[in-house]
Amino acid sequence: MDHFAYSTVGGNAVLSCERLPAEEVARLVGTPCYVYSKATLTEHFTKLAEAFKALDPLICFSIKSCGNLSICRLLGELGAGMDVVSGGELYRAMAAGVPASRCVYAGVGKTDEEIAQALDAGLYLFNVESEEEFENIARIAKAKNVVCKTALRVNPDVDPRTHRYTSTGKKETKFGVDIERAKEFFRRYGRDSHCKLVGIHLHIGSPIYTTDPYVESVRKATTLMDELAAEGFTVSTLDLGGGFGADYETDQTPTLSTYADAIVPLLAARVKAGLRIILEPGRTLVANAGVLLTRVLYMKRSGDKTFAICDAGMNDLLRPSHYHAFHFIWPAETPLAFRPDRRAKEMQVPGLISVDVVGPICESGDFLALDRPLPPVKRGDLLAIFTAGAYGMAMASRYNAQPLPAEALVDGSKLTVIRARERYEDLVAHERSPIALATG
Ligand code: LLP
Repeated sequence: MDHFAYSTVGGNAVLSCERLPAEEVARLVGTPCYVYSKATLTEHFTKLAEAFKALDPLICFSIKSCGNLSICRLLGELGAGMDVVSGGELYRAMAAGVPASRCVYAGVGKTDEEIAQALDAGLYLFNVESEEEFENIARIAKAKNVVCKTALRVNPDVDPRTHRYTSTGKKETKFGVDIERAKEFFRRYGRDSHCKLVGIHLHIGSPIYTTDPYVESVRKATTLMDELAAEGFTVSTLDLGGGFGADYETDQTPTLSTYADAIVPLLAARVKAGLRIILEPGRTLVANAGVLLTRVLYMKRSGDKTFAICDAGMNDLLRPSHYHAFHFIWPAETPLAFRPDRRAKEMQVPGLISVDVVGPICESGDFLALDRPLPPVKRGDLLAIFTAGAYGMAMASRYNAQPLPAEALVDGSKLTVIRARERYEDLVAHERSPIALATG
């Protein structure tokens, strides 16, 4: 569900974000630009909190999916904590006004400086991914004479049935500690006085379109918790990670209540007995809350193919090129006959043409869609690339010296630029004054 919808204006179907026409946003902000809907973000967060109410979870927004300060501030004001994986993300969370005491910190490669920064800030929970990392956090906490809380990221060996690049809960990935080693981990470190081992963390992949992998991994985790309890270790926190789906193409994505209906019964009694639940949603909150607007620069034919060459490319939205991910794309204004059905992966309307939607980058892998049925498009048309709010801007790069795009937030008919479009000066800002460190 989102607040990007087509309405009839004259003979055309016109896309608006909340009450603002996309064309108007593009005119004021320029293209390419990411446009987010405040109402969608708020609604998603509220629905998630409502669906999981029985578990009273701390909802830590996975900031890696969309780190814009205004977006994080908005979610923080709704009560969200943040899931971070670097010192930079912790910095971002705090800059958005979210205290470290509502942040959880995962990631396989935390540096000494990052650990010290998190300890100084008063982090809520480290999600620890290896024995060496635990020892390092304990060493740094001891040297600082502070106490911190940790959860062991357990790899439950559950197949999330998603892209192999974003599958994290199988044994062969670099994440977490094999579930068989978890008990040994608690025996070795579970009584550390500076680094309290209080929880289990799971994050098996993203996106996960069925509930079974969650059920399977939660069952494995609760069995482990019972076995640990029998050995005298109390697990007071269970972090379920993220991975809930977003509506990229169909309505096959489970609703938030479908996920909750499968998960809540497994944990409700434990929560009543004092267990703290953490969720780390990213995509499910922001993906459908953002679109990428891009202008068609040129139409071109080559062999049998028709290309729409746009001002956005893989530098702005990497997902199609990197994961062959599908994003629904449609002109922001189109004759009524082509009013889109965003639920249909391929629309069956006479007159559509097959188009490769590509960017300006010098790589053949620079595409946003291949062989996509679209209404006849022409130079100057505005295209909307949907469900781009998660891992869109967050993975954008300056490849080919393309400045990063602007980001804008719509609230009703109010439009705010929440990240200015970069300028050429920004591209070279860190290279202006070479600093000699060794002269040889
Ligand atoms: N928690 C942890 C520890 C994670 O590693 C992730 C995502 C999340 C939570 C949030 O997952 P979400 O709810 O957003 O599915 N770039 C890829 C996605 C990579 C996800 C990495 N970890 C993409 O564009 O699909």
